[in-house]
Amino acid sequence: MVQLTLPKNSKVETGKTWNSPGSEGDWTEFRIYRWNPDDSANPRVDTYWVDCGNCGPMVLDALIKIKNEIDATLTFRRSCREGICGSCSMNIDGINTLACLKGYDDIKGPVKIYPLPHMQVVKDLVPDMTNFYAQHQLIEPWLKTDTPAPPKEWKQSHEDRQKLDGLYECILCACCSTSCPSYWWNSDRYLGPAALLQAYRWVNDSRDEATGERLDALEDPFRLYRCHTILNCTKACPKGLNPAAAIANIKRKMVERT
Ligand code: SF4
Ligand code: SF4
Ligand code: FES
Repeated sequence: MVQLTLPKNSKVETGKTWNSPGSEGDWTEFRIYRWNPDDSANPRVDTYWVDCGNCGPMVLDALIKIKNEIDATLTFRRSCREGICGSCSMNIDGINTLACLKGYDDIKGPVKIYPLPHMQVVKDLVPDMTNFYAQHQLIEPWLKTDTPAPPKEWKQSHEDRQKLDGLYECILCACCSTSCPSYWWNSDRYLGPAALLQAYRWVNDSRDEATGERLDALEDPFRLYRCHTILNCTKACPKGLNPAAAIANIKRKMVERT
């Protein structure tokens, strides 16, 4: 049988413990993935003890406290702190989610935090989103029309506007795409649930006049049809959206137009 071994520099090692719990306080243990491209060391998992008695309730609050008070080199993305910007997506306790919406009290034992899976890492908890954003760009996420623009605005009936509910709310956090096995193995050619949900948002927009062109661009064995309806994406979405249903709807539109 063929034996496969990981390259030496890919092994995640046990890192440093930065502090220890005091005799007083409400201490929680955080184990956090660390990797710095500027040194030649392997990735490691560092341990931080945080007195959560004077810390906000979310994992992001604890990360900010660690960065401010214990280890300024810890690197992660965040902006809004309320589940709107999509920046703080990471893998917490084995699940892709937003650090600003995940309470550490919901987790039993040490809080384990890794970058989103199956992405290149820029540093620590920051994944490289270049390919993910390029895929979003590829679906041309803007209104396309041949009709000359009306003087004020493109009108839409209330009913047609409602067809965009469950689609426009996507914050491009990538929790869905990075929990999709098909995307893990074919992210160079399969667009993944986030980009496809966005594609459907425009296919389903009554004002858009490029539906055929949009479907043509998705008619490809990899871009769309690598979805095997595993549904990890829908389970992962921290905004409660259903990318798998959006993908199924694109496939249905493909059949209807033949
Ligand atoms: S339903 Fe499709 S997009 Fe969602 S996780 Fe499964 S294969 Fe990936
Ligand atoms: S569908 Fe949900 S999980 Fe996927 S990118 Fe949008 S908000 Fe994030
Ligand atoms: S910081 Fe904006 S979604 Fe978490």
